[in-house]
Amino acid sequence: MSILLEVRNLSKRFMIKKSFWQSKAPQYSKAVDNVSFDLDRGKVLVIAGESGSGKTTVARLVIGAIRPDSGTISFDGSDITRFTNSQLKQFRSFVHMVYQDPYASLDPRMKILDIVMEPLNIHDKESSKEQKIEKVLKALEEVRLEPVEEIAAKYPQALSGGQRQRVALARAIVLKPKLIVADEPVSMLDVSVRAETLGLMMSLKERFQISFIYITHDLSTARYVGDSIAVMYKGQIIEKGPIDNVLLNPLHPYTQALIKAIPDPDGSLADTPASPDAKQVADEKPSSTGCKYYDRCPHAMEACKKDPISVKAADSHYVSCFLYDGKK
Ligand SMILES: Nc1ncnc2c1ncn2[C@@H]1O[C@H](COP(=O)(O)OP(=O)(O)O)[C@@H](O)[C@H]1O
Ligand SMILES: [Mg+2]
Repeated sequence: MSILLEVRNLSKRFMIKKSFWQSKAPQYSKAVDNVSFDLDRGKVLVIAGESGSGKTTVARLVIGAIRPDSGTISFDGSDITRFTNSQLKQFRSFVHMVYQDPYASLDPRMKILDIVMEPLNIHDKESSKEQKIEKVLKALEEVRLEPVEEIAAKYPQALSGGQRQRVALARAIVLKPKLIVADEPVSMLDVSVRAETLGLMMSLKERFQISFIYITHDLSTARYVGDSIAVMYKGQIIEKGPIDNVLLNPLHPYTQALIKAIPDPDGSLADTPASPDAKQVADEKPSSTGCKYYDRCPHAMEACKKDPISVKAADSHYVSCFLYDGKK
């Protein structure tokens, strides 16, 4: 199995807006803080974590929409962070993003035919108009939006949320990309169509050997689609590994809390709260260093005031937590 994507020590910070009367130096927040992971060809990496943990920023970095402050993103052997703008344009024909909101991501003034054709108009200089229409109809068929001619002539507002997300998928696959980054693609859809939409993504992966990054704040679907998982907390990956290892044997207290928060199939929440109150910690941890989960962690201890490093717990299963450094 060969590696498609190799991300190393990726960091991105954003300036925090300051009020005009503040004269202090600009303040930054680390949206993505020293993140590393691999993705194999034809496989699905789940990036999980609560809102604000940096998942979308990782996605935007990986598709080349924004540039990192440091780190490398090797795609098919080339570091895209060093690409010129024209190289980036070509790169964008190999990677596509599917966004969370199927109502905002499709231009309401364009017919489905033109929405799905847009990537071809940008990247496919060889095909004639007729060939492009042919490719669009084929893509609509692949995502089972039928009858294809009828759908192609419609505007987005005539479609349901689930159908719109299929249009977004058709648009993503029309160029036969190597990687699709799906950023919470089903979180705004009706619960009844979520499994179906994820199932469709997985069948496209099999058919075309497309790799996926599936971003979610909800772990209940992750195990059925993912091969591996990276769990993010405050910009850092705190645990990663093969999905069964991580979800069946979660090591980081934050991953454990996320798993306990998965609703039962009947929709009720498990008894344990998602974020257990941290035990009373005697003294304050300086905010700039140390484990980011310190304030919420039921196991917080003196050692956690230093920065944890990622340790290998089992084959390809890594965790950044002092409970596992062997020197407890
Ligand atoms: N363009 C931006 N400008 C300033 N801050 C940003 C920007 N994008 C993201 N952030 C901040 O970076 C952090 C991570 O955001 P994001 O990547 O959107 O997280 P997630 O997708 O996990 O919810 C948040 O604190 C967010 O406010
Ligand atoms: Mg997001």
